[in-house]
Amino acid sequence: MAIDNEIIRIIKSRRSTRSYTDKQITEEQLEALLGAAIWAPSGGNNQSWLFTAIQNADVLSKLNSLVRTGFGRYVPDDDYPGKHSIIEQVKHEDYNFCYHAPTLIIASNKPHYENAMADCALALENIFLAAESLGLGTCYINQLHWLRYDSDIRDYLAGLGIPLEHTICSAAAVGYTDKESPAPARKDGTVSIVR
Ligand SMILES: Cc1cc2nc3c(=O)[nH]c(=O)nc-3n(C[C@H](O)[C@H](O)[C@H](O)COP(=O)(O)O)c2cc1C
Repeated sequence: MAIDNEIIRIIKSRRSTRSYTDKQITEEQLEALLGAAIWAPSGGNNQSWLFTAIQNADVLSKLNSLVRTGFGRYVPDDDYPGKHSIIEQVKHEDYNFCYHAPTLIIASNKPHYENAMADCALALENIFLAAESLGLGTCYINQLHWLRYDSDIRDYLAGLGIPLEHTICSAAAVGYTDKESPAPARKDGTVSIVR
């Protein structure tokens, strides 16, 4: 029989939330999520990451307009479909890169560090799973990573305390789920066991 416990249930029940209520998460919840992030493993125990939580609606709104402007001049550097479709998406007035989530946690890391993305991704998954255990919704947000060389965005983020030399790895939208996302089916053939 398949092993089932609380952690495995939380892993399987987590979904990417793309619709949030206005309700802000509590200070204790934010503390728990940031605590979960910094307890992630990191290459060589570097812990060189920085998690910047933004809960100010004006700051999030300004960031959204910078993201919209940034993608207006963005030239995709590969064929990843999302990078191309976003250029059209940002043209819509109601576009919001973090789905109006009341909290955004930006993960940045020191430059020229090979494990920067891996460390931040593991930390983000800790945030996602901790949030799921607290009844909160989350979503991985890639836009600030794609726009990490946009000088307007970097200047603005520097004003929020994210060092200019840091690479922006990823971000997590966090809040209360308004509309649940359906679970995408798992693809076959992605697991192999050699005994
Ligand atoms: C590296 C990475 C980047 C992602 N970027 C975004 C994003 O920018 N916006 C978004 O809505 N979802 C993003 N996602 C979420 C995926 O679309 C989502 O995990 C996938 O569709 C599976 O759905 P689930 O998370 O509900 O299982 C990202 C996920 C990963 C791992």
